[in-house]
Amino acid sequence: MLEHQNIKPEPITKDDASWFQPLFKICFERDDLWLQHLGDQKYEAFHINRQAFIFTYTVENYTDLLTIGVHPDQRRRGLACSLLKWMIVKAPEEQKFFLDVECENVAAIQLYKKVGFELISIRKGYYPQLSGLALDAYVMTYQK
Ligand SMILES: CC(C)(COP(=O)(O)OP(=O)(O)OC[C@H]1O[C@@H](n2cnc3c(N)ncnc32)[C@H](O)[C@@H]1OP(=O)(O)O)[C@@H](O)C(=O)NCCC(=O)NCCS
Repeated sequence: MLEHQNIKPEPITKDDASWFQPLFKICFERDDLWLQHLGDQKYEAFHINRQAFIFTYTVENYTDLLTIGVHPDQRRRGLACSLLKWMIVKAPEEQKFFLDVECENVAAIQLYKKVGFELISIRKGYYPQLSGLALDAYVMTYQK
């Protein structure tokens, strides 16, 4: 298991499209929506060894976790947990973190709980599915 103190995430920029977009696609089975936003200072993105990534959107002391992903070959080694803890540790003391997660994404929900995020509400039918059904979103928060 990695420790967040020992990792050195690197910033992601728009110039990273050649490796980032395939990584995003293998993680989410859809095209990336986030890289285009980099350059706006509210958006930040970091990676570990081009195997794990995190995107955030920060306005004052509120940070939304937009997305996090780890290459399937590198999962269950603590990469996502380390990235999240690193993000929290480097933020100012008053920072509050928010995220939405699909109610059926067990891996992500367990990850967020492990890091200390708490469920605060449920958005009914928030994520449309190809089937026509829509999945609920769990809204979770973490306050330092
Ligand atoms: C969710 C995801 C980012 C986790 O990455 P990871 O590097 O494998 O996670 P970690 O190794 O840091 O795991 C930390 C904890 O999360 C939980 N967890 C991770 N994967 C899990 C799984 N498949 N099933 C259940 N719990 C899981 C466990 O509590 C784990 O701790 P443990 O290994 O001590 O049991 C990764 O599975 C992924 O990229 N999924 C596809 C993209 C996605 O759904 N992103 C999140 C939504 S935005």
